[in-house]
Amino acid sequence: MARNKVTVVGAGNVGATAAQRIAEAGLADVVLVDIVEGLPQGKGLDLAEAAPVVGHDARIIGTNDYADTAGSDIVVVTSGIARKPGMSRDELVATNAGIVRSVVGQAAAASPDAILIIVTNPLDAMCHVAMDASGFPRERVLGMAGVLDSARFRTFIAQELGVSVADVHAFVLGGHGDTMVPLSRYSTVAGVPITELLPADRVRALEERTANGGAEIVGLLKTGSAYYAPAASTFEMVDAILRDRKRVLPCAVRLAGEFGVDGLFVGVPVVLGRGGLERVFEIRLTPDEQAAFEKSAAAVRELVGVLPA
Ligand code: APR
Repeated sequence: MARNKVTVVGAGNVGATAAQRIAEAGLADVVLVDIVEGLPQGKGLDLAEAAPVVGHDARIIGTNDYADTAGSDIVVVTSGIARKPGMSRDELVATNAGIVRSVVGQAAAASPDAILIIVTNPLDAMCHVAMDASGFPRERVLGMAGVLDSARFRTFIAQELGVSVADVHAFVLGGHGDTMVPLSRYSTVAGVPITELLPADRVRALEERTANGGAEIVGLLKTGSAYYAPAASTFEMVDAILRDRKRVLPCAVRLAGEFGVDGLFVGVPVVLGRGGLERVFEIRLTPDEQAAFEKSAAAVRELVGVLPA
């Protein structure tokens, strides 16, 4: 049986780190693609040279040519540019939409049966572009955001209570960023909701820190943005799909009436397996949670509205 093949587009910080994790776990052969000549080849060779030491035998190459990506099981898209000083949000959306449209068009043509995992920001809007450019069904177009947001929430809860992250579960919904909806009553330590373990103002502070999690890292790094946790979160989705694990993970998917939203990519818990999105894991929300979720969906709708035609 041939080993699985994963293409990672964008050999920058997130892409190269995700490629490293996938290869080192022996999960798949990896093809790293970038528009810059030499960059993916150099990082691919460096990662391949780590294999004998790390002790895996996945093949990893870097390329500028989509022909090398043919027949991939999964295509991860991290290519894009970061927001530059003076650049408006709408300019960033337009630039990254152009990049995502171009790379997804080429990658989807080479791997018509692949599952797409979109990582480029602004995430939810880029998922719309990817679905349109690929023509893939919604089961095979997923956005990585919720796994990262919930990992951040779990980290902050564990630090606050002095417990292992292994015993903390967090539930987040909605778009990636400010309008994210952390569901604290379903966020637990060993099954106990954090709302019973912490005063309301501490819960709120952890929720807010989670929603600003990306900005906090940008503020510390000064140049560049987070990549270890985004790459680890991407890996978790790749692993759930390739090993058909039926993991329940929060992902951006195109809703078709679930949670009262139709035709928009928003983060919700889904069952991930070899078919990609196998089922939206729907839960009943309180009126306040539903209102926060709809506000989040409205923010995605607004961003999609400024996408270039
Ligand atoms: N085709 C292929 N690669 C491209 C293209 C393109 N058209 N345009 C840009 N790239 C590549 C860049 O050359 C760069 O190597 O995408 C890579 C992006 O890498 P970084 O700038 O290091 O960005 P990174 O930190 O990896 O973040 C990537 O993930 O989490 C999100 O917000 C983040 O949208 C950003 C993305």
